[in-house]
Amino acid sequence: MSEPNIPSADELRAHWDQFAPLFEERMESTTVLLARELIAQLHLGEASALLEVGAGAGAAARVAAALLPAGARHVVTDLSPEMVRRARAKLSEGAEVREADACALDFPDASFDRFLCNLNLMLVPDADAALREAARVLKPGGLAAWSVWGRPEGSLMFTIPPLAAEEVGLDLPAGKRSNFHLGDREVLRARIADHGFEQVLTWYSPMIRPVLSGTEFAEVTLSTPRWEETLADQPGELRASLSSALERLAEEALGAGRPIGLEALVVIARRR
Ligand SMILES: C[S@@+](CC[C@H](N)C(=O)[O-])C[C@H]1O[C@@H](n2cnc3c(N)ncnc32)[C@H](O)[C@@H]1O
Repeated sequence: MSEPNIPSADELRAHWDQFAPLFEERMESTTVLLARELIAQLHLGEASALLEVGAGAGAAARVAAALLPAGARHVVTDLSPEMVRRARAKLSEGAEVREADACALDFPDASFDRFLCNLNLMLVPDADAALREAARVLKPGGLAAWSVWGRPEGSLMFTIPPLAAEEVGLDLPAGKRSNFHLGDREVLRARIADHGFEQVLTWYSPMIRPVLSGTEFAEVTLSTPRWEETLADQPGELRASLSSALERLAEEALGAGRPIGLEALVVIARRR
């Protein structure tokens, strides 16, 4: 079997730059729910220096800023300049907001005693490089928190769209690495321990999106850059039938009492 297609840093930057406005407007109110769970584990009231990587448009950074003691260093980073711009607009002068690649951080060793990374590790080209960097920039005893896509079973937000595509006969690009590729809690736990962490705790956590209706779910899904790109050369009728299928599947789930969200995998660990 051939290797799955893994996006490069340049492709990720371009994708997230394009996605940033919709992400900030329609998605980060949901991702921040999960970020709050990570932040609650980081004992920020006793922190002296927090680094966030893959911080997106800055909603979690704003939550963290309110919990850090006066004088603590707060560094907020993302690969996408457009995300960085949006995060900067949300934060006070006290936070250092800048571009950084999670796999190649430009900070000296042992610069931080807290590390936060919400819904980013499963996206980067090389998760081991990102974990190595997290371990490198953390001081011994420092605390880290990550979340990744966990299990498809409880993740209708991401399993309904491919089902709808199949229903209408739309072939999705093959060979892409699944964003669930880090979702086995024992495997990820061992991998993080191997990078110099101890007391590695993992759990699955539902992140539920407040979906108002199937129509709204279909509209937001089809506005994302991935779907815009997939549908660019397709006839308008196909887009319309895909939208109806998305709407119907979402309404069926909601009608059966199944919330639409992501079952994330949370990991908390201490640097050895
Ligand atoms: C799903 S969003 C999550 C954003 C934010 N953590 C949140 O929870 O709202 C993923 C973020 O990872 C960023 N990203 C992707 N690849 C990256 C990399 N190699 N290094 C740093 N950030 C990256 C994207 O630009 C995007 O802002």
